Amino acid sequence: MSSRSTLTLTTTSAEDTKAAAAAIASVLRAGDVVALSGGLGAGKTCFVQGAADRLGVRSPVTSPTFVLVKLLPAPVPVVHVDVYRLERLGHLDDLGEDVFAPDVVTFVEWADTMRPLLPDDRLEVVLAQGEDRADPELRRLTLHAHGPRWAPRIEALEQVCQPWR
Ligand SMILES: Nc1ncnc2c1ncn2[C@@H]1O[C@H](COP(=O)(O)OP(=O)(O)OP(=O)(O)O)[C@@H](O)[C@H]1O
Ligand SMILES: [Mg+2]
Repeated sequence: MSSRSTLTLTTTSAEDTKAAAAAIASVLRAGDVVALSGGLGAGKTCFVQGAADRLGVRSPVTSPTFVLVKLLPAPVPVVHVDVYRLERLGHLDDLGEDVFAPDVVTFVEWADTMRPLLPDDRLEVVLAQGEDRADPELRRLTLHAHGPRWAPRIEALEQVCQPWR
């Protein structure tokens, strides 16, 4: 992976993370996979909310408690996967194809849990609390664009992310 495909963003509030996610969503298209990681409360669901809104999802985006996968209707439907409670990767065996489909955009929370099942082409988003403890609302978002689907879009991604760099 070239350093050019890595972007570091800073957001200052939950609304700001949603706005950054919405900007990123403007370069997403059917078949894309966004793999989110970061600790409890890092802002993964917040990111999905902002992106889903931009993609035209009108139903609420919540952290699924018992459901691992939710299909959210939109012009390009959104699949929201949260594998926090997945104890064994095997449980996902029969979900694979529905989760990563060419006609949907997929967001995976706790993507680390299912790394071996993630497609090579993906946008990874790592969220972390900012180092500045004085401001608990600061988040660092590290974006890694992987694979040939993303190569032609790195520049567009850089552009839409400019306000947060
Ligand atoms: N800059 C920020 N970006 C995102 N969320 C923020 C920010 N600052 C504060 N917050 C707060 O942090 C929390 C993030 O919660 P969220 O559910 O999005 O995290 P999560 O990573 O999905 O957690 P979980 O591991 O439980 O799924 C929210 O309460 C939100 O208001
Ligand atoms: Mg969450």
